[in-house]
Amino acid sequence: MAVTFTLNGKATTVNVDPQMPLLWVLRGTLNMTGTKVGCGVALCGACTVHIDGEASRSCITPVSSVEGKKITTIEGLSADGSHPVQKAWIEEDVPQCGYCQSGQIMSAVALLARKSSPTDAEIDDAMNGNLCRCGTYQRIHKAIHRATSLQAGS
Ligand code: FES
Ligand code: FES
Repeated sequence: MAVTFTLNGKATTVNVDPQMPLLWVLRGTLNMTGTKVGCGVALCGACTVHIDGEASRSCITPVSSVEGKKITTIEGLSADGSHPVQKAWIEEDVPQCGYCQSGQIMSAVALLARKSSPTDAEIDDAMNGNLCRCGTYQRIHKAIHRATSLQAGS
């Protein structure tokens, strides 16, 4: 089945099983490997992308459900790591092994698009579903606060 969507600003059509998870289409069909495979059952957040601006778990999203929608992956934030959230992540030296981090960043970007200056409780709430085995949670918090300043241009 042909499914057409906008991926990182570009019209994209794939011919795949309509039930195939978006995650497999991104990584296997389109060779975009920035989005990571974790649990496969919506429990870890490693596969987080934006679907029409909402942080979404691509491992449980059948590709047929994104027909006509706008998908953004970590590759779509910037070509050179210059998105304010990516810059904040670098400045706070957030990643350890790095595996969970594209999902963490995508959830943080979606949060900051809705709330330009979230409280700690709002950050906890938004980031709750993104697990990090390396325990980088404190640095993630600091980076999100730093990103609010970078987004505001200060
Ligand atoms: S791989 Fe999708 S939530 Fe874990
Ligand atoms: S940095 Fe290793 S799992 Fe998060």
